[in-house]
Amino acid sequence: MVVLAVLVGCQSKDKDGAAASGSPPTAGSPAAAPGAPASGTVAPVLSGSEAKDIHSYAEPDIARVTNVDLDLTAHFDSRTLQGTATLDVLSGAQAPTLTLDTRDLKITAVADDKGQSLPWHLATADPELGAALRIQLGAARRVKISYSSSPGAEALQWLSPAQTAGEKQPYLFSQGEAILNRSWLPTQDSPGIRQTWAATIRAPQALTVVMSGERVGEPRNLKKEGLREWRYRMEHPVAPYLIAVAIGDLAFQPLGQRTGVYTEPSRLKAAADELADVEKMVAAAEALYGPYRWGRYDLLVLPPSFPFGGMENPRLTFATPTIIAGDRSLVSVVAHELAHSWSGNLVTNATWADFWLNEGFTVYFENRIMERVYGADAAAMQADLGWDSLQEQIKDLGGMRAPDTRLHLDLTGRNPDDGMTQIPYEKGAAFLRTIEAAVGRERWDAWLRDYFDRHAFQPQTSAGFLEDLRENLIKDDAALEKRLKLDAWVFEPGLPANAVHVKSAAFAKIDVRAASFIRAGIAAADVQPWSTAERVRFLNRLPRKLKPAQLKALAAAMNLDTQRNSEVRFAWLELAIANRHEPAVPNLEDFLTGMGRRKFVVPLFKDLMAQGAWGKALAQRIYTAARPGYHSVTTGSVDPVVPLTAAKPQ
Ligand code: BES
Ligand code: ZN
Repeated sequence: MVVLAVLVGCQSKDKDGAAASGSPPTAGSPAAAPGAPASGTVAPVLSGSEAKDIHSYAEPDIARVTNVDLDLTAHFDSRTLQGTATLDVLSGAQAPTLTLDTRDLKITAVADDKGQSLPWHLATADPELGAALRIQLGAARRVKISYSSSPGAEALQWLSPAQTAGEKQPYLFSQGEAILNRSWLPTQDSPGIRQTWAATIRAPQALTVVMSGERVGEPRNLKKEGLREWRYRMEHPVAPYLIAVAIGDLAFQPLGQRTGVYTEPSRLKAAADELADVEKMVAAAEALYGPYRWGRYDLLVLPPSFPFGGMENPRLTFATPTIIAGDRSLVSVVAHELAHSWSGNLVTNATWADFWLNEGFTVYFENRIMERVYGADAAAMQADLGWDSLQEQIKDLGGMRAPDTRLHLDLTGRNPDDGMTQIPYEKGAAFLRTIEAAVGRERWDAWLRDYFDRHAFQPQTSAGFLEDLRENLIKDDAALEKRLKLDAWVFEPGLPANAVHVKSAAFAKIDVRAASFIRAGIAAADVQPWSTAERVRFLNRLPRKLKPAQLKALAAAMNLDTQRNSEVRFAWLELAIANRHEPAVPNLEDFLTGMGRRKFVVPLFKDLMAQGAWGKALAQRIYTAARPGYHSVTTGSVDPVVPLTAAKPQ
């Protein structure tokens, strides 16, 4: 049973659409009453053991942050963000201690809103969680922390001009999920503690600042300093991992009335062409599960070191340039990040143990958007590829009994990253497809739409999801309850026998071609009509051991040596590595040094390391060259795989 904590304020309900640009920010305005947050909207924090976040030091029942107001200058020379964070705090206690999450922050002062300093203490840092910052509030309910981030802040990547397309200006971007934002803003960094926020960011005049919120007014020139000052705000309470910033030489092109794309000027046309269907995707998503509640939906296409396919920062999805394929074949990533505007950003996993509530729902929803915009066949191919990756993942984790094949994860003593496998994504999506099949699409869609409404702007747990499902969908249908095996799906390892596998009919034909490849080969004319998904499936279904002549013929038929489609290229390089296929090495090297998307980088290095001395030497050589260009998220995953200290000097 989920119980709401004592510190429950009025719930923020949908305020559809954004307030007019130029209106004063919510944050910073005087509090309505002593102890009340500036914004006036406070989302509930769940109490109960299943909602306890072991990855945050925050003690929200004693004192909780409701609003964050940042005032920061981006110093590209020292690679630091420096300034203040002013926090509004809600507490029922007389003289409470406010506990915040920080990581490698240099704290210089803590004061109340009258400028009186407050006693504070920074605890010893944990290597994964960072250091708790404890502040004696006394009567204060607003605190101003003066600080600077460190040059190695995990959430931030500072790029030199050479790492950008334009090669003239530096670039900065943040990546908060899961527990990285504490390295650039001191707050309660827990997905269950929603906060409104506002920010004033100063950056070199030539650069544009974008954030995961609404821009307030026009940027102001600070001539003397050579800076421009930008203001943003988020009026809805959000999980703090969703606060994001990027600064660079950015241009913007509208895609539709409420959608658009930012990227470096030389990349803008290609990005806008690729993303031409975004407006249609938003309409499809709304038709499925209710209004888009965040105002605008824009995308930022980042430099190639961005470590993810996409990140669902509210109002501004961050995306890898590796989805710009030239033929719109990889836009399911956009459908995915857009879907998070409901699953994840509106209804948010209360802790990282329930990450599947974010990602499983989103993979399911992504596929429904793809179906509406691109048709059932294209959607079935995507779903079937997802099923393949689920099977692979279960094998990699050690089979159907492996503890990490549970949807509800046990992350005790671990970094949330350890649980971020295909399980929350694809087992989660398979679970929802199984419920859909059992109750019928109409009933399921109606429930899901209402579910997003009922829990909008609130955290959620597995237990809370099951409770809602039983109360509002299953009701007292004992036969249905029995058939669904809900508890097995959520709390037990493996894949229940009732799992629905969406099979693509098109793939059946591809599989036949893959099976006959050794005997019959393949011609360019055969491959020519295939979609990207079909090419990927074909490559993944080929026998792992092929002869050099077969690899050569395959590469010729599918143009694999010059392939720019990142998914096809990745599938080919995996096959090439499995065969120690020397002619593919320059291509592999070029791919791994040209982008830092973790989903591609980590498996390729693992594949290399599995190929004895040949692969290990290659991995070390390539990683030595590529590592300086990768984000900490990616190096953090490759470092344990490729031991660089053992590398022989060239
Ligand atoms: N929210 C995730 C990215 C993420 C996960 C960041 C965990 C930090 C920790 C994002 O929505 C995502 O899932 N991206 C996928 C693409 C998607 C199409 C499956 C990715 O980056 O590959
Ligand atoms: Zn996602």
